Amino acid sequence: MPSSSTVTNLSLCFPRPSASLKSRDAAVVAASSIPTDLPPNHVLIKVERFGFSANNVTYQALGEQPHFRYYDFHPAPDVAGEVSPKTHGLVPVWGFGTIVASSHSKILPGERVYGYFAPSRYLLVPVSPSDANRHAFYVPRPHLPADRRPYNQIIRCAADPEYTPTALGEDLTMLYRPLFWTAYWFEDWIYSLGYRGATSFLISSASAKTAFCAAYLIGKRRSRGEPNSKVKIVGLTSKRNIEFTRGLGLYDEVVEYGSFASALGREKWVYVDVAGNDDLNKRLFEHFRAREHGELVTSVALGMTTLAPASEKASSLDWSINTFAESSQVEQFFMVEWLNVRKHQLSLKEIFGRQNRAWKELMVDCIPWVRLERVTGADAVKKAYEKIVEAGFSPDVGFIWSLWDDSAVGAKL
Ligand SMILES: NC(=O)c1ccc[n+]([C@@H]2O[C@H](COP(=O)([O-])OP(=O)(O)OC[C@H]3O[C@@H](n4cnc5c(N)ncnc54)[C@H](OP(=O)(O)O)[C@@H]3O)[C@@H](O)[C@H]2O)c1
Repeated sequence: MPSSSTVTNLSLCFPRPSASLKSRDAAVVAASSIPTDLPPNHVLIKVERFGFSANNVTYQALGEQPHFRYYDFHPAPDVAGEVSPKTHGLVPVWGFGTIVASSHSKILPGERVYGYFAPSRYLLVPVSPSDANRHAFYVPRPHLPADRRPYNQIIRCAADPEYTPTALGEDLTMLYRPLFWTAYWFEDWIYSLGYRGATSFLISSASAKTAFCAAYLIGKRRSRGEPNSKVKIVGLTSKRNIEFTRGLGLYDEVVEYGSFASALGREKWVYVDVAGNDDLNKRLFEHFRAREHGELVTSVALGMTTLAPASEKASSLDWSINTFAESSQVEQFFMVEWLNVRKHQLSLKEIFGRQNRAWKELMVDCIPWVRLERVTGADAVKKAYEKIVEAGFSPDVGFIWSLWDDSAVGAKL
């Protein structure tokens, strides 16, 4: 632990849409200090590195959206004249870190942890006194709905069966873990419904990790020859990403957004929407309304890669209203709710066993999919973020960011 009574923190802060700042997407690196003499039941985590993908941009876009409130997980620092929790938010990131100070009786400095952190060098969080076990401990957030508990969990790597104690293992975990389990339980759910009788899957933003993990899982089940799993898997993507998406080899066909009308056959389709693009969805639903083009048996909203980081639309979305109200066939998939159902159908041992098998296979299979790119140092990370705002994500790159300079992140980098 540092010897002084405070540590200097750096955080990448994002303007809150409600603050109506001049530049709605200008990120700021703010320096603040954190006392190392902690209040009772707190831990100070050195956030060593974290993944950054369209998933985090969606968190940002929905930062103030009343249903999601992603800016209410970690308050921005208060730095006079620069940033404050009222004007800025911290976009949650999935990352690895080490406990550097603890005032909790069951948590000691030096422990490696994985969780839903902030894009900063250090993170000070309270820990429920009674809510710490061998596997995890929890950040109490009584201001947020109880169903956000999975986000409050900080996993203790030493007892985590999915933990791979290498730099590569950690990097792949940060990139895939938040997305893969959504794809995994989504596929489990829709398969349990007999794929709703569909013969084909159509997946938008097919180049996104969430999308191609879903394609991978559907394909794996098909290759195991499980009953009723013989479906076609079609990816829908932008022109610039078509080559990458085809190269993955996870889709039977990859079709460009502009040309799906002539490319889709007369089958029974499940549409998995990872793009959340209203214009595309209007065109798709219109296309399937003419039955001679095939039948859309259901569509499931899984992502919103189309949302810009500071999208005004996102802040004002009313989540109680179906975004695609003109279609009665849109379903939302809620992983937590489905897992609750599964816990009554399968033993915990069976659930963990299935997850561990799937995770081990993924850790081997995913190696060729994307190239890892590490960005270290606060200014470099800010620049990398600005590039994303300007040009979007390149799907072939998996970003691992750290606000620490190379030398400060230890041997693991
Ligand atoms: N429901 C859940 O619980 C859950 C869980 C995990 C993730 N998700 C969601 O799934 C989505 C995908 O996340 P990810 O991390 O897998 O994505 P990713 O791998 O970072 O995907 C990047 C893709 O997003 C699209 N994209 C990037 N910039 C864009 C822009 N400026 N405009 C339009 N499209 C752009 C492109 O795909 P195309 O060219 O192929 O469109 C790009 O290849 C996110 O919205 C995330 O929130 C949801």
